[in-house]
Amino acid sequence: MFRTKSIEQSMRDTDEPGRRLRKNLSAFDLTVFGVGVIIGTGIFVLTGQQAARNAGPAIVLSFALAGVVCALAALCYAEFASTVPVAGSAYTFSYATLGQFIAWIIGWDLCLELALGAAVVSRGWSAYLQELFDLPAWLAGDRARPDFGAAFIVAVLTLVTVLGAKLSGRVTGVLVAVKVAVVLFVIGLGLFFVKAANYTPFIPEAVPAPKESGGTAPLLQVLAGITPQHFGWFGIVAAASIVFFAYIGFDVVATTAEETRRPQRDVPLGIIGSLVICAVLYMATSFVVTGMVPYPDLDTAAPLARAFDVVGQGWAADLISLGAVCGITSVILVLLLGQSRVSFAMARDGLLPPVLARVHPRFGTPWVMSTITGVAVVLLAAFVPLSELSELTSIGTLFAFVVVSLGVIVLRRTRPDLPRAFRMPLVPWLPLVSVLASLWLMLNLPVVTWARFLIWMVLGLVLYFVYGIRRATVDASRSDTPSAPAPRS
Ligand code: ALA
Repeated sequence: MFRTKSIEQSMRDTDEPGRRLRKNLSAFDLTVFGVGVIIGTGIFVLTGQQAARNAGPAIVLSFALAGVVCALAALCYAEFASTVPVAGSAYTFSYATLGQFIAWIIGWDLCLELALGAAVVSRGWSAYLQELFDLPAWLAGDRARPDFGAAFIVAVLTLVTVLGAKLSGRVTGVLVAVKVAVVLFVIGLGLFFVKAANYTPFIPEAVPAPKESGGTAPLLQVLAGITPQHFGWFGIVAAASIVFFAYIGFDVVATTAEETRRPQRDVPLGIIGSLVICAVLYMATSFVVTGMVPYPDLDTAAPLARAFDVVGQGWAADLISLGAVCGITSVILVLLLGQSRVSFAMARDGLLPPVLARVHPRFGTPWVMSTITGVAVVLLAAFVPLSELSELTSIGTLFAFVVVSLGVIVLRRTRPDLPRAFRMPLVPWLPLVSVLASLWLMLNLPVVTWARFLIWMVLGLVLYFVYGIRRATVDASRSDTPSAPAPRS
């Protein structure tokens, strides 16, 4: 259970014939990938909703706060990915440092971020599409069961992932250009309609949450015995833990490390570059939008479009909806890619059936895993009502951040000899701050989210003890590291 997989073995595995991924991505591709998966439902939907419900114009502070937590984790991911550039991201990192059991937990946990995230986001895509073209409600959008729109987009994008990362990179590139242009358009045009009066009060006074909201209160407020409340300083933090969803994705860059030409340099650049670009865009967008209209008016599924409608610029609202559809497409694509890479790495290690780790002879992609992931996400997206589950995606991601940050400290101790192209400053203190910061955001998520998270993890534990623990293929004779023997169970 506590056997680690040596870094050298992880790297060797990537060279096995028939299981080798093609290396053709550059730092630029990775940054585009990052922005492609980061900017999505978060900025297009959650900004307005959280401004209206929890933070008011101070939503810009929530974005800043969530951005800082992500930046700390990003440094940890950058160090890890530059040291262990193999597919699998947080999963591989934990295998190398904390052992097989934690690695399994993280691999299982990442399904929440990647597969569930893709399904959540595809529902948002379908809703925007329905609004843009005024499609019948049974076909796409919130009320469609099954949601054909969401199922359709996941199926198409699964095909793209099977055909190859470079193709996916190109498709993402076009979509990313459109969405960044739309976000800049919102900021640029919106500035002309900002009224200083809308920023008062900047931090609305705290009000008690309605009694019936029960499970939606942040766990921390419940544990601390505080009457659950909206707005005020607690509101800013609660909003930060929810808009955190908007930043999810920079870590997915690390899952493509194995397909990168110069991973030691390019992966840190891709991770940190895409995070910084998005943080700046988010803060600017939320500042402008809350300046355009009074924050209570932003509680809608399409708040950015609403803001422009309110100031009499309906034409701009349509353009923004179009941008949202394009933008959200690339989010789903990259999340699907990430999921197939993580499960691919788990199958290669025997924690999942090895047949899943087959690479397509012509396209060089893990096509078996991509197809299975695609089918599962199509079903989830079509049939399961997912609107409330974005917070489950966030808690899953934050948990992975906690483990990766701990992993940085462990790997510095167990393998000080490894070449690290990127070194996080102030180890172990800064990674520790990263652990606490991610935990803090987790604690600010609703009680019901915690309950769902725990159920999912228990399910994962059962699977591990029934299958993974018996089948894992880490060869104990090779798992020792040259400088420091790894702990064994
Ligand atoms: N960060 C991604 C989004 O906002 C998941 O949709």
